[in-house]
Amino acid sequence: MISRQVIDQIRETARIEEVVGDYVSLKRKGQNQWACCPFHQEKSPSFSVSPSKGIFKCFGCGKSGDSIGFIMEIEGLGYLEAIRALGKKYGIEVKEEEQSSEAQQEQNEREAQLIAMNFACRYYETQLKEAEEGQSIGLSYFKERGFNSQTIETFQLGYSPASGQALHEEALAKGYQEQILLNAGLLSESNGRLYDRFRGRVMFPIHNVSGKVIAFGARMMGNDKNQPKYLNSPETLLYHKKNILYGIAQARQAIRQKDNCYLTEGYTDVLTLHQAGVSNVVASSGTSLTEEQIRLIKRYTDNVTVLYDGDQAGIKASFRGIDLLLQEGLNVRAVTFPDGEDPDSYCRKVGADAFQAYLQVEVRDFMSFMLGIKLAEAGKDPLKKAEIVGEIVSSIALIDDTIKRAVYLKECSIQLQMAEDVLIAELNKRLIKKRKEDKQRKELDLPEGVVNAVTTLDYVQPQPIIGALDLRSGYEREICRLLLSYGHISVDEGRFVVDYLFEETGDVPFMAGPFQEFMLAYQSEAMLKPGTDLSPYFMAHEREDLRKMAIELLSSRYEISEAWKEHDIEVPREQDILSHVVVTTVLRLKWQHIRKLIEENQKVLQSSEIEEETDLHQKIHFELKQTEKELAGKLGIVVAGR
Ligand code: UTP
Ligand code: MN
Repeated sequence: MISRQVIDQIRETARIEEVVGDYVSLKRKGQNQWACCPFHQEKSPSFSVSPSKGIFKCFGCGKSGDSIGFIMEIEGLGYLEAIRALGKKYGIEVKEEEQSSEAQQEQNEREAQLIAMNFACRYYETQLKEAEEGQSIGLSYFKERGFNSQTIETFQLGYSPASGQALHEEALAKGYQEQILLNAGLLSESNGRLYDRFRGRVMFPIHNVSGKVIAFGARMMGNDKNQPKYLNSPETLLYHKKNILYGIAQARQAIRQKDNCYLTEGYTDVLTLHQAGVSNVVASSGTSLTEEQIRLIKRYTDNVTVLYDGDQAGIKASFRGIDLLLQEGLNVRAVTFPDGEDPDSYCRKVGADAFQAYLQVEVRDFMSFMLGIKLAEAGKDPLKKAEIVGEIVSSIALIDDTIKRAVYLKECSIQLQMAEDVLIAELNKRLIKKRKEDKQRKELDLPEGVVNAVTTLDYVQPQPIIGALDLRSGYEREICRLLLSYGHISVDEGRFVVDYLFEETGDVPFMAGPFQEFMLAYQSEAMLKPGTDLSPYFMAHEREDLRKMAIELLSSRYEISEAWKEHDIEVPREQDILSHVVVTTVLRLKWQHIRKLIEENQKVLQSSEIEEETDLHQKIHFELKQTEKELAGKLGIVVAGR
């Protein structure tokens, strides 16, 4: 526990401009100071510091906070660690108060182990570089594998002598306690005697995020079948395998800057890629990925690219990992390598440039990747194919974000050449099931019918997406579909849907093109024949483009699937919840539009040099954000505050 008083004192002393100024060079413009954002890559500054408010804020990536938050973010520290770091910098004593003697003891033990690990790391490094055994066995091995001295330095690679007492003796001579060495996993006990755990192996220190050595991986030399290829530290007070990723300390800055994390399996993959200029890379060290490891990545980026060894069995075993990544809200991509190659061997084979190009060209989003592998396996077997659809849809159902889900579903329907409605029905089945489970889990005492309301609001509308990810035209199309299907129906107090749609979307400039054309044609016809169903008219329209569009719009009309009935859930038909559907679609369209305006404004903001202009665009920014929040509130979407 750190006292409130000390925290406040640190807040006051650690001036934001000074703390930030250690990392980027700030330029004063008006009341604020500006720099290129250290958290994402940019060419013109959108990262601002307000000394008067004591906060930083990036208009590009949205990161914001006070000086403690800045240190947490940039150093990858926890709250207390950041406070300690600032305390140290400003000479403020950060006393831990009311720590129980047990906690105090644990703290002492941790620190003692960290010191011992640091000592061992240095020792192994020295052995590698200076001792004869280390040079002839360890160093020559690393050189043969193509690791240069820079890499050896960065990752603090080492060598453990074969004798079995080398580290032990040196440590005792230096005054380290045997018990601590044992607890840290550096020694192991056999027949009542203590030995070096690592003997005659090349050493890969495993660092925590702040770069402290907490464990070792050790590769054997030669190939003794009776020994594990890699011997790793046991679980200790410092090292919990499930919490750490190999290489995170060396990669975190690059992960943040590139806004992507390459995930591999092996120690050597990390080293080789890093050396080849792909420094945003970490390894799960051969075990299946854990939630904790994923959260660790999430501190730095939302994007993961999984690099797979080129063997099919391994790839299939890893699909669970992809599901976990999706569930934690990450965007997942994947790259595979030719059979028998791992990222390390392939990179060495083709060279750094070709390897980087390979990553660019071969990267797939998780769905194409999974589909590709599963479809190849299924061949022409229709039953297998059906199974695959189920599996893929299950994975999509894990994604929390409604829009992302819709995008993937669309993509899936294109790739499988399968009607989107069918996939939507499948997806909704799973969403309902998931929601039921969630509900049970939370033991929420919701009155009958509430679940229905939630699902209807939330189910994936078939948002027809034209072009790749063009959501806006998706909503525009949806507006046209509603217009054609229900324009003549009166919703509230005798107002026709067509009137509502035109009034509400009046301030949203539609993208030029077919939808705009269609809306205008519909409007002029509706004025002549108010209250008439115009769909027959348009389906037989003399203009071919309008006729085609009408047919296309009507044929994709969403009928809520039979699947819902299976679950005894009475779901209203679209007609019955028409005003809700119309209102939310318009809100979604507006929301998209506002987001686009925000983006455009941010571009201007980033490139403007003149202070008045910057101020103006910041005002606009906040106003737009306000509107976005309001819309999002109505839609029930959470918007990141900026
Ligand atoms: P690999 O067997 O693919 O090793 O295991 P590698 O990284 O390609 O190593 P080289 O190229 O033969 O030197 C992948 C990862 O699984 C863990 C290690 O983290 C290894 O990097 N592993 C493997 C172990 O922990 N113990 C083992 O016995 C084998
Ligand atoms: Mn390998």
